Amino acid sequence: MYGISAEYYDVVYGNKNYEREAHVVRRMVAERRPGSQSLLDVACGTGVHDLHLSRYYEVDGIDLNADFLVRARERNPRGHYSEGDMCDFSLDRMYDIVVCLFSSIGYVRTLDNVRKALVRFREHLTDGGLLFVEPWFTPDEWIPGRVHLLNAERDGIKICRMGHSAVRGAVSLNPCEYLVGTEEGLQHYRETHEMGLFTMQEVQEAFAAAGLAVDYDPIGLMGRGLYIGTKKE
Ligand SMILES: C[S@@+](CC[C@H](N)C(=O)[O-])C[C@H]1O[C@@H](n2cnc3c(N)ncnc32)[C@H](O)[C@@H]1O
Repeated sequence: MYGISAEYYDVVYGNKNYEREAHVVRRMVAERRPGSQSLLDVACGTGVHDLHLSRYYEVDGIDLNADFLVRARERNPRGHYSEGDMCDFSLDRMYDIVVCLFSSIGYVRTLDNVRKALVRFREHLTDGGLLFVEPWFTPDEWIPGRVHLLNAERDGIKICRMGHSAVRGAVSLNPCEYLVGTEEGLQHYRETHEMGLFTMQEVQEAFAAAGLAVDYDPIGLMGRGLYIGTKKE
């Protein structure tokens, strides 16, 4: 899980095209369920998708990370942001759209938890509402033994992140080390990402078991594919 601050998270993903991704979501919603007004961003992180999505919808969010939520609230002051687990949450509102993006679903690690999360998402959808889940890698796609290097820079903060890919059963292991340089000096952080590797068939069966019709778009928002669920009326 993330050990770095919201500020450093935003530097690391500073080149991710959140605005374009929000437009892809908006286009798909316009095609499939025009007139949608409300959206819940599950695992919203620091709320950069919400910054853009809130131009079109009333956007609320939920995430496990309290520090990230502070930044999300700043980005979308009209939104309600709750600290919670996507496998076990209950909000007093339903939404026309629920999204769970940037492979966040992988953090629940087990298929049983994916099923629980999908039931939670469905419970928060209005009839005919849409669910967008951007998956993590499948077991075939995840290649152990690779080293990843990312350099990022913004507002005088320079970050070098190196990660290594490994696997344990159906869970990808991705230990990462960060070297962060600022005016004050250098800092070192370490975190490990453990994420479930699920086949497309497993995910599609989990959607069906949760009472959601499902389509799969192989491209999605950034080439990782996208599951599009619909709450059956
Ligand atoms: C890759 S980040 C994506 C954040 C944001 N959606 C984005 O696109 O930048 C994964 C997010 O999932 C959140 N997360 C992980 N497990 C979670 C859980 N069980 N319930 C809610 N949020 C979770 C983390 O705190 C983190 O913000």
